Amino acid sequence: MKSIDLRKKFFDFFIKRKHSQVPSSSLIPAQDPTLLFANAGMNQFKDVFLGKEKRSYSRAVSIQKCVRAGGKHNDLDNVGFTSRHLTFFEMTGNFSFGDYFKKDAIEFAWEFLTNELKLDKEKLHATVFESDDEAYDIWKDIVKLPESRIHRMGAADNFWQMGDTGPCGPCSEILLDRGEKYGEASPENGERFLEIWNLVFMQFDRQKDGNDMPLDKTGVDTGMGLERVCSIVQNAESVYETDLFMPIIKKIEEVSGLSYDQNEKTKAAFRVLADHTRSTSLIIADGCSPSNEGRGYVLRKIIRRAALFAQKLTDKNIFPELAKVFIGYMSTIYPELKTNEKLILSLLNSEIEKFAANLVRGQAILDRFFEENKSDKIISGQQAFKLYDTYGFPTELTQLIAQEHGCSVDMAGLEKEMEKQKKQSKKKVDAKE
Ligand code: GLY
Repeated sequence: MKSIDLRKKFFDFFIKRKHSQVPSSSLIPAQDPTLLFANAGMNQFKDVFLGKEKRSYSRAVSIQKCVRAGGKHNDLDNVGFTSRHLTFFEMTGNFSFGDYFKKDAIEFAWEFLTNELKLDKEKLHATVFESDDEAYDIWKDIVKLPESRIHRMGAADNFWQMGDTGPCGPCSEILLDRGEKYGEASPENGERFLEIWNLVFMQFDRQKDGNDMPLDKTGVDTGMGLERVCSIVQNAESVYETDLFMPIIKKIEEVSGLSYDQNEKTKAAFRVLADHTRSTSLIIADGCSPSNEGRGYVLRKIIRRAALFAQKLTDKNIFPELAKVFIGYMSTIYPELKTNEKLILSLLNSEIEKFAANLVRGQAILDRFFEENKSDKIISGQQAFKLYDTYGFPTELTQLIAQEHGCSVDMAGLEKEMEKQKKQSKKKVDAKE
């Protein structure tokens, strides 16, 4: 099944069950200082859950553009090294605002996965929040899932919150067991037990002091990763071998002359480039530019990470070319890509060009360090700070390169250097005033 058909199937299923189709919001959240980027389908409905805003519908369905590369939900460091983590992904979701609750949410999800997508029932597992007997019993008594496949989990896995404050509640996840090949049979092993759908039962509004105030009306917020489900219905090894990524992967093969399957290192670089092409293009299309703070800095970090991985494959600046391919096949879904094509390509181009010289110099410094410090495996705070301050190396990049050489970065030392610099620049500003 192609991704385009999966999108349609999802919408049709929920529209038939009286849900209003709502378009994705921008990746740049409107008037929400608690969020860097849209990170879930429910973001645009936050005030509806909180009872501060009324809509003409009490059931909604959407496919939301999401970025998880900073803030509460951050997958950046994992991208490239697992089969499922992404900085940009699309979240298919159905929502209830004071309408249905746990029973319907669970039944809808089960019906969609097993009747519409025809996933093998025997391979599906469910998790519930440790004290949520109601959800447990729905899985056991109504869905008739064997108890050996219902797992009670703690708050870290089964209590969902959008950010430090705001709507939140216990959740129930649906996992697909991908088999022995992927290691230990435990719901904590995410490569084997692939989380495909999270059903959140919105019940509270988390306050700044950490207290959970009950909402006037409970609700349902679900999120199913489109890329993950695509990987299942397309029988793909990972999200990257689906039609949502393959045109970029093919282009990288063409311009680098390397093969995606060559070895694990090459594969990781291909995956990073494919993922980062998608996220950076869409972030720019929604109006963000690289900068030194906030979401602009997150964008800069992603582009620079892409530059680091691109140079493992080729000397050419291929990143803008990859964006062109992505814009080409994804503009039917997100026309803002086509509208902003020139801007996307020129920003990516100039950001990579600006960083290229520093990347070479910074790497030379690091290589010298690794050569001279064969026994000392820690990059000092001062060294990491110099790489950040003089060569624009985001700390994550220094950490990544260090890791590749079996070293680590003295993060406490780096923090001290950062503080020192902050104080110095404050002194300068105060002196001027
Ligand atoms: N809002 C549900 C999720 O992101 O998993």
